Amino acid sequence: MSESPERVLHAPARLPEYLSDTYTWAYLNPRTMPWLDRAPVVSAILWGNAGRLMRWAVSRFAPGQTVLQAACVYGDFSAMLARRLGVEGRLVVTDVAPIQISNARRKLAGLRQAELRVADLVEPIAEQYDAVCCFFLLHEVPENARRRIVANLLGAVKPGGRAVFVDYHRPQRWHPLAPVMALVFRWLEPFAPSLLDTPIESLAEEARDFDWHKQTRFGGLYQLIEANRKAC
Ligand SMILES: C[S@@+](CC[C@H](N)C(=O)[O-])C[C@H]1O[C@@H](n2cnc3c(N)ncnc32)[C@H](O)[C@@H]1O
Repeated sequence: MSESPERVLHAPARLPEYLSDTYTWAYLNPRTMPWLDRAPVVSAILWGNAGRLMRWAVSRFAPGQTVLQAACVYGDFSAMLARRLGVEGRLVVTDVAPIQISNARRKLAGLRQAELRVADLVEPIAEQYDAVCCFFLLHEVPENARRRIVANLLGAVKPGGRAVFVDYHRPQRWHPLAPVMALVFRWLEPFAPSLLDTPIESLAEEARDFDWHKQTRFGGLYQLIEANRKAC
């Protein structure tokens, strides 16, 4: 499906090299995408935790809010979030890859509170939102891009608003899956190890304007972060 010009705002001239070099198989290949974008696959990749992690993230937002979702997510996450915001709310899903935006548009058909935009989150975000949601993006980008994305997302939160991050985290030493995940990261997710021990709030100066709350799940393998922007 091709993009309609009015929906392609601030479209990047080209895809980031880290994305095309590392993740073509996962996000840019029209033959593999339909196989990966299935609930059982998403659930398996997150060791059966996908539903729980998605429900937690969605519960951080309220009906009627205007929310920016940073990058497309396989499975029903965006539709869940759009339904949570309701018809009084607005969900703007952005992704740097036009193929991902087309796929998300198909999944969000009929949810008129949802908008899709091709945009590179490394570039400044013009609009401000009640909240932003970043679900498993940060481990897939190199450190310098990660810093810029976190700064831009925090900058896009209105005073009194909220940023939500869900991502990988260093599992506890005894975790039976720790060696498996180390291999997965080595083979498939080369940027993930640099995130595991790095507090997200240390990635951008804008973090000081927020109150940070962190939880972990599944033996520390996943982190759930809520950052609330101070009112003034
Ligand atoms: C959210 S992350 C991974 C989510 C999760 N692993 C899943 O199951 O979908 C994947 C998306 O991030 C997008 N992405 C990567 N770098 C980006 C950037 N700088 N700006 C916007 N989107 C980006 C990719 O195009 C891809 O669609």
